Amino acid sequence: MKITVITGSPRKNGNTFAMADAFVKAAEAKGHEVVRFDAAMMHIGGCHACMTCYQTGKACSFDDDFNLIAPHLLDSDAVVYAMPVYWYSIPAQIKGVIDRVFSLVVGGKEIAGKKCGIITCCEEHDATVMEGVTMPLKRSCDLLKWDLVGTVCIPGVLNEGDIAHTDGCAQAAALAEKF
Ligand SMILES: Cc1cc2nc3c(=O)[nH]c(=O)nc-3n(C[C@H](O)[C@H](O)[C@H](O)COP(=O)(O)O)c2cc1C
Repeated sequence: MKITVITGSPRKNGNTFAMADAFVKAAEAKGHEVVRFDAAMMHIGGCHACMTCYQTGKACSFDDDFNLIAPHLLDSDAVVYAMPVYWYSIPAQIKGVIDRVFSLVVGGKEIAGKKCGIITCCEEHDATVMEGVTMPLKRSCDLLKWDLVGTVCIPGVLNEGDIAHTDGCAQAAALAEKF
């Protein structure tokens, strides 16, 4: 299986990256091909809603780093989104990628039937905080006919390294078993 992992934290030593690393390591150990994009370290804007997707030959007519990700989204069997909660929601760093999955739909590409996973975390000790990340992605999966096979939600992590005091990385590795 080919799995595209997209992260949305700007912290290379942060909690999301630690869990993404654990997922990637476990998925590769299972024999999956994993392609990873760290959206916060890329140049990816929002959707312009111009509806000209694929008319220039690339997914998006506004040619930024999303067009590097789009071909991998197309030919992957699975997509894993990993991000922290920012203001009870999806961070801007990865929202542009998620919004621009629209280009694959408008472009008439066959993208139904993929598997999906979510890895997320937040500072507050309240798991409902992460619904701001999981709810829109679950609904998007339903719309796209993607099978959301697993969600890792780790509350109570604020600073870099806090994830080590939780079972977040173990849960992220276990998520790989579901693909
Ligand atoms: C801009 C910003 C907004 C945040 N908003 C929330 C929030 O609404 N609720 C929450 O519990 N934590 C919030 N946090 C805390 C992060 O979710 C938390 O620090 C997380 O562990 C960061 O993950 P990372 O280490 O992968 O970057 C916010 C952090 C930042 C920088």
